Amino acid sequence: MDDENDLVKQALSLGGEPDAIRKFYKNWSETYEADLDRDLGYVGPQVAAEALIERIADDAMILDAGCGTGLVGVELHKLRPDLIIDGIDLTPAMLAQSRQKGVYRKLSEADLMGPLHDIAHDFYDGVVSAGVFTHGHVGPEGIDELVRVAKSGAPIVLTVRDTAWEHEGFRVKIEQLEKDGTTRIREILPSPYHTKDEVFCQLVVMEAV
Ligand SMILES: C[S@@+](CC[C@H](N)C(=O)[O-])C[C@H]1O[C@@H](n2cnc3c(N)ncnc32)[C@H](O)[C@@H]1O
Repeated sequence: MDDENDLVKQALSLGGEPDAIRKFYKNWSETYEADLDRDLGYVGPQVAAEALIERIADDAMILDAGCGTGLVGVELHKLRPDLIIDGIDLTPAMLAQSRQKGVYRKLSEADLMGPLHDIAHDFYDGVVSAGVFTHGHVGPEGIDELVRVAKSGAPIVLTVRDTAWEHEGFRVKIEQLEKDGTTRIREILPSPYHTKDEVFCQLVVMEAV
């Protein structure tokens, strides 16, 4: 694989185009975790999992949206082995990596930019997503479906890359959801994301109404 920073630059330039995203992550799927850990000190999954875990019951049913290779599932399982965790992602090759972790109940292909047809309203006790709400991936409109599938009172925890927060309209979207009475914002905290190159994220904790 290329130099890691080039890979991140390429990832951020995918333009939200599903075929480009699938192709890019297919090529990266096998070395993704080692590359991110070694070169970036990527902690999005830990930060998101820890924020979620404080707010859910031991046997809660959780959706990991954009689960990738399963880093969030692994963190959640370490902290609470009895959780029931489902994962969805656009890229089959990333889902295949998640499957090997053995911590997900169900893993399915889904596009977070559209309706999640296979998931009922008010279904999950908690929703988490790390590394997905960023440039070139899933835009603010993808949050609507995560809110729809969360039960009333369920926490929804998202990382949003700091450079995308204002620029891509995430702050405005999250404030609008609260104004509309769809969610309550519990916390928005600047948090570590890539610890080796000082990239931060906004850690968003909301509750579905
Ligand atoms: C940077 S990875 C993050 C994966 C994992 N959550 C983590 O923190 O390591 C981004 C993931 O988002 C997925 N993705 C990008 N666009 C998507 C979309 N529209 N719907 C579902 N998944 C998407 C990619 O396939 C990839 O697995």
